[in-house]
Amino acid sequence: MPIVKIHGMIDPHTHLRDLDWSNKATFTSETQAAIASGYWAVFDMPNTAPSTTDEARLDDKLKRLDGGAHCDWGVYFGASQIDNSAEYERIASRVCGLKIYNNSTTGDLLISRQTDRERHYGAWSTNKVIAVHAEEETVSAILSLVRKYRQPTHFLHISSAYEINLLTKAKADGLPVSIGVCPHHLFLTIDDLASLGPYGLMKPELKTKRDQQALWQAIESGLVDVIESDHAPHTFAEKESANPPYGVPGLETTLPLMLRAVQDGRLPLDQAINMQSLNVQRIWRISPLPKTYTLVDTDHSYIIERGSLRAKCGWSPFEGLRAYGKILEVWIRGHLVFDGENVLSPPGFGRNLFGLVA
Ligand code: NCD
Ligand code: ZN
Repeated sequence: MPIVKIHGMIDPHTHLRDLDWSNKATFTSETQAAIASGYWAVFDMPNTAPSTTDEARLDDKLKRLDGGAHCDWGVYFGASQIDNSAEYERIASRVCGLKIYNNSTTGDLLISRQTDRERHYGAWSTNKVIAVHAEEETVSAILSLVRKYRQPTHFLHISSAYEINLLTKAKADGLPVSIGVCPHHLFLTIDDLASLGPYGLMKPELKTKRDQQALWQAIESGLVDVIESDHAPHTFAEKESANPPYGVPGLETTLPLMLRAVQDGRLPLDQAINMQSLNVQRIWRISPLPKTYTLVDTDHSYIIERGSLRAKCGWSPFEGLRAYGKILEVWIRGHLVFDGENVLSPPGFGRNLFGLVA
């Protein structure tokens, strides 16, 4: 049984919900699911209800996570349409980065005018990451700001051949950019929409086989830095409604699907693991913690099924797919927090990796 040790697995792109959306997910339910999936830490996006766009809301979220999280965590501050950049200096030390939504999705944080985007870029004066939702030509618009302001920028959920081309050039030019890709764009395409229905709707949307191939090639060539889940749970009722929201859960299936890709010979094991641990630590400037690691049996094979999922929403767009890996143990700061069956850390065990609660 090949047991592999992963040093500090982190998902830098999750929507943990809670607050007014605790019907979808809670800090407790999702951080338990994260630990059982091997994670040391997860970073939460700001398009919550209410959105994380001022200091009071940020501090409320930090306090709740501090009391409820089972694993370590980070929180993004959200750039807002009604200019909130005056807050940046006060809040920067407590967050993992700034999130700017440049194309529409769940929530109301869309910033569509380039002059507004530039104001946020100009005001973000720390060297912490700016994480951007930018699709297709919007990637070019953001790259012009990276060129001007030189802020480290992580391009979330890159999903098309066109975007890969732009970012290949940006990296060749030495711009401080990093690239995240999600398993749903690697394992599903528009051809799956007929069978998935609303459970296959997310932003960015599923793409063509050609786009999917470009993503795999970008992984093979070492261009992709991070595999992130974009864990965005919605309830069955919401997905079955007349206007199903965009977003799919993914925390529990990301490592298993990447281990399947390793089994399929698509990429080396080391690379798959680094894209979920060391590369994230490097980009978000996190020092690895001693005695913080995950042991996984990478040969264990299974079919993804509803019944074995822990996230509150209770479904996965990957149901029926073969996946690999059984998490045997998770250790955080010298504590055994998962023993292969049960989450052992209490709520509130998790810490903010980016400073203390105010
Ligand atoms: C996300 C959500 O539901 O919060 N949805 C999605 O389709 N990915 C929002 C987002 O990250 O775009
Ligand atoms: Zn997201």
